[in-house]
Amino acid sequence: MAAFEYYSFWLQVLEKGFGFFFFGFTILFSIFSILVYILRLKPWCNCDLCRSYSTSSWSLEFNNLCDWYSHLLQKSSTGTIHVHVLGNIITTNPKNVEYILKTRFENFPKGKAFSVILGDLLGRGIFNVDGDSWKFQRKMASLELGSVSMRFYAFEIVANEIKTRLIPLLSSVSSKEGTILDLQDVLRRFSFDTICKFSFGLDPACLDLSLPVSEFANAFDLATQLSAGRAMTPSPLIWKLKRFFNIGSEKKLKEAIKLVNSLAEEVIKQRRNKGFSSHHDLLSRFMANTDDNKYLRDIIVSFLLAGRDTVASALTCFFWLLAKHPEVKEAILDESNQIIGTSSSEKLASLEEMQKMHYLQAAMYESMRLYPPVQFDSKYCQEDDVLPDGTFVKKGTRMTYHPYAMGRMQSIWGPDCHEFKPERWLQDGRFKPESPFKCPVFQGGLRVCLGKDIALVEMKSIALSLIRQFDVQVIVPTSHSPRFMPGLTASVRGGLQVQIQERRYKSS
Ligand code: HEM
Repeated sequence: MAAFEYYSFWLQVLEKGFGFFFFGFTILFSIFSILVYILRLKPWCNCDLCRSYSTSSWSLEFNNLCDWYSHLLQKSSTGTIHVHVLGNIITTNPKNVEYILKTRFENFPKGKAFSVILGDLLGRGIFNVDGDSWKFQRKMASLELGSVSMRFYAFEIVANEIKTRLIPLLSSVSSKEGTILDLQDVLRRFSFDTICKFSFGLDPACLDLSLPVSEFANAFDLATQLSAGRAMTPSPLIWKLKRFFNIGSEKKLKEAIKLVNSLAEEVIKQRRNKGFSSHHDLLSRFMANTDDNKYLRDIIVSFLLAGRDTVASALTCFFWLLAKHPEVKEAILDESNQIIGTSSSEKLASLEEMQKMHYLQAAMYESMRLYPPVQFDSKYCQEDDVLPDGTFVKKGTRMTYHPYAMGRMQSIWGPDCHEFKPERWLQDGRFKPESPFKCPVFQGGLRVCLGKDIALVEMKSIALSLIRQFDVQVIVPTSHSPRFMPGLTASVRGGLQVQIQERRYKSS
């Protein structure tokens, strides 16, 4: 007995000693990491740009950080700037963009810093990986998304959501005079329904306003918001420590991700029970190739992120621009009348008819040139490099290209770069695409967006239905540019408040 007490006494001493050592080591290691991080960032940098960033004095003059960056990039002779306090080089130079996204693709991966920030939410999904894992997923996803049958499937889903939910909802609003609607919210609900139906064949019915917003949509929203918030903290150690102690925003994030995971698992289970071999949705197609549930969960979450807020953001800004430019709305209406006819405003355009609408396609691209849903995108430099404009990029530097600022560069678009002119995308009345390195709205090079065609079909279908059947009056002042919320995708602060009236259709 005495021997037992003797051993248990020493065991306790050892346990406490080890705990104390471990705790001390963690604290010392954290302090050391903070110091290394601080030394790399040069927080003492007192150049005008860094001082303005650190004190947020830029916000006295500009509504959005992206507007301030655009201003600085326009002034720079190379179209490139260095924010020393962030260890971030930002460029708008199309030659640099091509170099990063294509020529030296291997030297500019997404990198660990990005994948750690989004890792808890996205797991090993296509957005969050580099190397072989990315190549494998890219190959599989491009086979599916590139197929003609998938495009028809996506079109059918969108057309059905328009006919059965969007039009009835807007008609009911238009009949109640004075009703104000947040169009951005409606578009987000629409794109959540369609991306869920498309990705895993289930309908969350978010656009049905009589139902409460789906738990899944809410949890997903919160998880993306809080994950994006991690990138805004001055040092990653802050959110890592909060995650370690499970406090504050990290506690909320953990709970939101737990809910997303359990709902994703439920989706996979339901799909398996219903059988997937005869279904067209993306999940069923991936299930035919793998039975790894974690991998399938990561695919679901990545596609939700890809297809939800991007489409809603692009369309919100499109309608904001149309409110300022009624002549563009009239031109779209005229073109559609010529192709679909004027006998019925309710008739939806077919895929073939939409392909003939060159002006509509030009207006969509012109809107995204000025208001890209993904305003900037960062990679990490693996080995020291020199960009085509002569900028030296040190290993470990965050390298950002900035589509929002690129749309405002005179050197790329000429002196009328700030104007909304769909005609700049037309040659002899036909849509003429620009180099993706000049307008990288869907990125460019080896990781170019895989859902570009599907997104455009969705956006054009919604825009046409709204323009042909309703008069959408934006009720916020369109004299100012929109203010954006910080996040992975640009969404307008306060939404887009509109009033809707059903059009009295002119019969031909
Ligand atoms: C207007 C709508 C859209 C815009 C502006 C857009 C833009 C982008 C951008 C900028 C990227 C690169 C992201 C990065 O690597 O950091 C990307 C990647 C991707 N997008 Fe889209 N996207 C849109 C809609 C969609 C839709 C609807 C889908 C799916 C149905 C989709 C699927 C993807 C996928 C799978 C990738 C990853 C490609 C890869 O990493 O190899 N996108 N998109």
